[in-house]
Amino acid sequence: MEEKRILLTKEEIDRKVKELAGEISRKYAGEEVLVIGVLKGAWIFMADLVRAMDMDVVCDFVRVASYGSGTETSGQIFLLYWPEMDFTGKKVLVVDDIADSGLTSVFLRKKFLEEGAVSVEFCVLLDKPSRRKTDFRPDYVGFTIPDHFVVGYGMDCNERYRNLPHVEVYED
Ligand code: IMP
Ligand code: MG
Repeated sequence: MEEKRILLTKEEIDRKVKELAGEISRKYAGEEVLVIGVLKGAWIFMADLVRAMDMDVVCDFVRVASYGSGTETSGQIFLLYWPEMDFTGKKVLVVDDIADSGLTSVFLRKKFLEEGAVSVEFCVLLDKPSRRKTDFRPDYVGFTIPDHFVVGYGMDCNERYRNLPHVEVYED
């Protein structure tokens, strides 16, 4: 990485994660929610988010791939892992790192509803609305950012930089 442009510090992220967790806990008070993280980008965000939630949650993950490599979406979505869980009558909260084109999210919403979920909400750390190719709108958004490719806090470029504690703009 040539140059560092920190977009969100660890402190800003920590504060926002607590806010989101509070909002979600109030919304689902007394209800059972299946919290489903989208691998791999969401795992660090999900780990912090569920630990800040004041509610009972059942956690699992899905793994989808839409990026072969590099920074542009292929437009095609591959389902690589799906939970062994009955979604019938359940409320699902999908946790994702970034809402970009929205193609993955639209695909997942449809899939969870087909599997019998009664509601599907999305919580994303970052939203890049200028990149949208669908009418997808996340229900809980940490930060709305401009169209930069970012890494850190779980997000990668070719599998690197996921372990950065902050979010920075990737410059190649
Ligand atoms: P989409 O909304 O279907 O286009 O896919 C969004 C997914 O692409 C996100 O969940 C990320 O995993 C990945 N992605 C999009 N933008 C970035 C970025 O700036 N950095 C790292 N991954 C990204
Ligand atoms: Mg992702």
